[in-house]
Amino acid sequence: MRISVIIPAAGSGRRLGKEKNKILLELGSKPVLSYSLEFFDTISQVAEIIIVAAGGEEEECRSIAKDSCRRKEWQVVTGGEERRDSVYRGLKAASPDCDYILIHDGARPFITHKLMDNLLTADFQDGAILALPLKDTVKRVEAGCIKKTIARAGLYGAQTPQIFHRDILLKAYEYALDAGFEATDDASMVELYGGEVIIVPGSEDNFKITTPYDWQKAREKVMTMGLRIGSGFDVHGFIAGRPLILGGEEIRHDFGLEGHSDADVVTHALMDAVLGALCAGDIGGHFPPGDPVYKGADSIVLLKRVAAIMGEKNYELINGDITVIAQKPKLAPYIEKIRSNLAEALETLPENISVKATTTEKLGFVGREEGIAAQATVLLRHK
Ligand code: CTP
Ligand code: MG
Repeated sequence: MRISVIIPAAGSGRRLGKEKNKILLELGSKPVLSYSLEFFDTISQVAEIIIVAAGGEEEECRSIAKDSCRRKEWQVVTGGEERRDSVYRGLKAASPDCDYILIHDGARPFITHKLMDNLLTADFQDGAILALPLKDTVKRVEAGCIKKTIARAGLYGAQTPQIFHRDILLKAYEYALDAGFEATDDASMVELYGGEVIIVPGSEDNFKITTPYDWQKAREKVMTMGLRIGSGFDVHGFIAGRPLILGGEEIRHDFGLEGHSDADVVTHALMDAVLGALCAGDIGGHFPPGDPVYKGADSIVLLKRVAAIMGEKNYELINGDITVIAQKPKLAPYIEKIRSNLAEALETLPENISVKATTTEKLGFVGREEGIAAQATVLLRHK
């Protein structure tokens, strides 16, 4: 199965009533369009992604695609007057090497892997779409007056994605456009052509941003979507004759910390916090202390590997907060540099990494200057 994905994004978002096309509005940390692009970029059967942009918005869509499509081939084509014209332009740009075409509205940012799996594993002849049974009773109304009540049984609301064999979809589009058929989804084109399209249960979460209420709902959803918290803690004892490395910075002190690697207790706590948030074990498992490879290892290099694990799992750091617990030495002169070292390794900005230092008022092992402890908390977000 090789799939061309077409993302119609060439509308104007009239019903939402914002100053620009809803697809390009920032939702949380990124434009609405990015959500679908990033999603399809992770689907193994997808060979290419075609974004259909409104005339004049091609460049903006290209720049969003550059950030969102890291693995797949992609292109931006210019859309038409109606959705069906836009999809048709996308169809014409699709590679004949793909045997399936999947269409997904750029205005539906919350498609999930589960829905996608259900769609791709469905046993369909010509096509399959996500759909949900209607909840409300449907009325045909003219001039404010009900003309007819349509029996609800068997009525479904169509969602996207919708997937079809390439050949039948192309033929169906040509036939329907020739006939001047007006349609707001792709399955109706194939139905008109006599094709058989089945439905797969969709989800209310996979809603299309259409009205101001949808926009509010989408904003609330992204605020809490895919957030994961993690905590890390580490302690190393002082030893003479080693440099003291904290957060990748060499600190002037009479002692260093004892450990198999460079014993950078701050970076270790941070790594464990990130791994914890990902539920991906701990640094001992990833970088075993007994392994000679890690003898004297630069912990910042290991932090970069943890960042790569985070990227592979499609998470990014929102922020991290680290407390270094040390009676001595005084860390204030080093804090800014430590923040920037850690931020760089995690591919984020220093303002997302806080580093604070405290003593224990001479109490306990830290107070007796036997070693240094560090604790870290991080918040990650699914990309
Ligand atoms: N679309 C498109 N080309 C058009 C019209 C719509 O590519 N000429 C796309 C939209 O960008 C959207 C999808 O089709 O991703 C579904 O359309 P809809 O929700 O109706 O979006 P808009 O047409 O932008 O919104 P409205 O109808 O409120 O103006
Ligand atoms: Mg529309």
